[in-house]
Amino acid sequence: MSKRVFVTSKRIPHWAIDELRKNFEVEVFQGQKVTTDDLRYAVCEFDGIVALLRDKFGRDVLNYAKKLKIIANYAVGYDNIDLEVATSKGILVTNTPDVLSNATSELAIALMFAVARRLIEADKFTREGKFHGWEPDLFLGIELSGKTIGILGAGRIGTLTGLKAYGLGMKILYYSRRKNFVLENQTGALKCDLDKILSESDIISIHLPLTPETHHLIGSREFNLMKPGAILVNTGRGAVIDESALVDALKSGKIAGAGLDVYEFEPRISEELIDMSNVILLPHIGSATHRARNEMARIVVENVTNYLKGEKPVTPVNPEVLQKI
Ligand code: NAP
Ligand code: GLV
Ligand code: GLV
Repeated sequence: MSKRVFVTSKRIPHWAIDELRKNFEVEVFQGQKVTTDDLRYAVCEFDGIVALLRDKFGRDVLNYAKKLKIIANYAVGYDNIDLEVATSKGILVTNTPDVLSNATSELAIALMFAVARRLIEADKFTREGKFHGWEPDLFLGIELSGKTIGILGAGRIGTLTGLKAYGLGMKILYYSRRKNFVLENQTGALKCDLDKILSESDIISIHLPLTPETHHLIGSREFNLMKPGAILVNTGRGAVIDESALVDALKSGKIAGAGLDVYEFEPRISEELIDMSNVILLPHIGSATHRARNEMARIVVENVTNYLKGEKPVTPVNPEVLQKI
């Protein structure tokens, strides 16, 4: 009997589902969003699952797993999956690294420009018919060139963001546990402790994964350390920032603005942010380019197909599971 694969969304590239169907019996969830019960059914009945980052695989779900071999996340981040439980149950988790790094770093840079030059406010003003001619003081903003950027999380995406920022004439500081030789050699970037980065950066860009260590890394103490007028950009994970402390920092004018692609309680967004004109709110579209999403699909298909056929997956997150087979 052929192996069974559950896909939690019908909105991944269609060709990828067709590819999976060549080797497996595939069930594609047809509703808007899977529930916990749908996921329990999936982990119980299927050999493989193609999952989205919004599908939560906690112990309450994974405990129902019987023959499940692989969860292939259609994302690079995998904080939606309890890795410890998955590993203890011998379930391989895979992600989609690298292919979305450029797209996400371009979005981070786009947010920096958009906040610094007030693009969304200015667009709204123009559409509202308020543009009556060039004015000396209309929508004054700041320039990125010559400013200091603090990169929190200098991994794949943080590195590409740093290289782009360097090209724009920015000075680079970064926060990571390991030294980043590419950034240091190519941009003269300096590795610093968090407090120094917060107090010296004009722009702070978050590229950290969400882990117990990074959860609420940026809270009211950290906002107080920031330079007055700083801009915060988050394309990492929402809960790295304490969102209520962010609201306070924006309300009090402690920081000048924020560009957000991710939220602490996604898809819910703090009411107050919605009314702020110095904040840009995006619906988690960091990797949303045609190229990146197709490449992510290719990696997902390779992981599921290889592994369920007894071959090596391409991007395992918990390779220790492989040694057990
Ligand atoms: P990555 O290569 O693993 O980079 C993350 C970096 O963060 C690592 O290099 C790591 O460096 C650093 N880090 C991790 N924990 C840390 C800690 N406790 N303290 C200091 N530094 C820490 O991952 P990536 O591919 O760049 O992706 C980063 C994150 O971006 C993903 O996990 C995901 O949440 C998010 N993302 C969002 C979107 C979007 O649509 N907005 C798209 C793609 C990714 P060290 O090991 O040296 O500390
Ligand atoms: C998107 O947020 C990802 O982790 O790929
Ligand atoms: C602006 O359009 C200028 O020419 O300075």
